Amino acid sequence: MDLSRTYRTTSPEETERLGSELASELKAGDCVALTGELGGGKTRFVRGIARGLSSKGFVKSPSFTIMNIYEGGSLPLYHIDLYRLASTEELEAAGLEEYILGDGVSVIEWAERSPSLLKSCRITVSFRYISDTEREIEVVIKGAGK
Ligand SMILES: Nc1ncnc2c1ncn2[C@@H]1O[C@H](COP(=O)(O)OP(=O)(O)O)[C@@H](O)[C@H]1O
Ligand SMILES: [Mg+2]
Repeated sequence: MDLSRTYRTTSPEETERLGSELASELKAGDCVALTGELGGGKTRFVRGIARGLSSKGFVKSPSFTIMNIYEGGSLPLYHIDLYRLASTEELEAAGLEEYILGDGVSVIEWAERSPSLLKSCRITVSFRYISDTEREIEVVIKGAGK
């Protein structure tokens, strides 16, 4: 099923559900680029992906690291957050490509901080703040799904 379109959610739970729906379209080696401002709902969305994959553990933003790994689900989930990224050199040094092209699903918050990563992802999800409880979420899936 192609989930590509613009959604409007009216609660964090609804955003999470959208993430869990996307999870069923994901396959090994997929990369999901999340863009948009702070508070847009990116981390809530990742929580939904984790639930959809039946990953173990509670998803929260990686605070001191660039990446958290959640296993135990149908695919390993690599949750990457580029918010604190100082430079693209730092990103290369972190050796993330190995994960992104690997056996799991990579989900990248603040993907716009790395234009080359952003371009390489099959799926892009953009978050826009509308009001306290509303978010506009645009899902773009390039190429065929599973
Ligand atoms: N429709 C919605 N979708 C997602 N989050 C929402 C929504 N409405 C309110 N919120 C709130 O917005 C915040 C989103 O936080 P978070 O997912 O951490 O965003 P980001 O990772 O983009 O910074 C949470 O506090 C959440 O409760
Ligand atoms: Mg976040």
